[in-house]
Amino acid sequence: MAYNCLEIDNDDRVQIIRLARPEALNAFNKELMDELTEALKAADADPKVACIVLTGSEKAFAAGADIKEMADKSFVQAYTEDFITANWEEASRIRTPIIAAVAGYALGGGCEMAMMCDFVIAADNAKFGQPEITIGAIPGAGGTQRMAKYIGKAKAMDMCLTGRMMGAEEAERCGLVARVVPKAELMDTALEAAKKIAGFSRPISMMVKECVNRAFEVPLSEGIRFERRVFHSVFATEDQKEGMKAFVEKRDPNFKDA
Ligand code: CAA
Repeated sequence: MAYNCLEIDNDDRVQIIRLARPEALNAFNKELMDELTEALKAADADPKVACIVLTGSEKAFAAGADIKEMADKSFVQAYTEDFITANWEEASRIRTPIIAAVAGYALGGGCEMAMMCDFVIAADNAKFGQPEITIGAIPGAGGTQRMAKYIGKAKAMDMCLTGRMMGAEEAERCGLVARVVPKAELMDTALEAAKKIAGFSRPISMMVKECVNRAFEVPLSEGIRFERRVFHSVFATEDQKEGMKAFVEKRDPNFKDA
């Protein structure tokens, strides 16, 4: 499918989805969001895609929801359309691992989108923030919730109440970001990590993702019970047999996604 605001590339079992609305620093208008939802669902349904890299430009991952598009919305419109959350949450429902490769601004909905991905690799010029308060709004795509869970109350309150931006190093220090690399190395590093993941069994990496995400939904004892049940189910896969056999035979495994 052809997109107006996205560029899609495939590299072996990795799909790169690049936000490409440069005139608005990749601000999410309806068209971009609809396209991104469509692209993520298509990638997730494609058995040849075992990892997704979501990225933007060197200047901006995404500068948030499109302020010009939403400025004049009424409450009734926002409420009846279930504005923002209706399809924005799709990224968090995707089962294929998603790495956010973030350079430049990841603000408002851009920061929220990065947090919906499984982990963030940031360029050293990345800037994260929830500046909605500065335009008389609050985060509307999970920012207050995910940020509080991921980096704790103190930092989340600081970010959401002051609307300040956080650089890549601080973001790594507080756990918002998994790795920081020089800007020029961002895509190589993200692709290397994505290819590593895509080299493993696709159903097993989905199980890992499902289990880690469970930690944010349920109490520890329930999460551990859930993990154990999923762990038991790996023994029903051919890839578990192959992976352990390959270890014993001192060779590389040949996973079949089965
Ligand atoms: N919506 C619509 N357009 C945006 C935008 C946004 N979120 N962010 C940037 N743009 C547009 C600008 O209007 C500008 O367009 P024009 O040239 O037509 O005027 C173009 O992108 C370039 O932006 P700037 O000239 O402002 O670039 P800059 O380098 O001077 O500043 C910036 C960059 C600091 C990111 C600044 O653009 C900015 O503050 N943007 C808004 C950030 C923001 O408040 N995001 C939160 C949005 S609300 C939200 O996301 C709600 C939610 O929870 C989902």
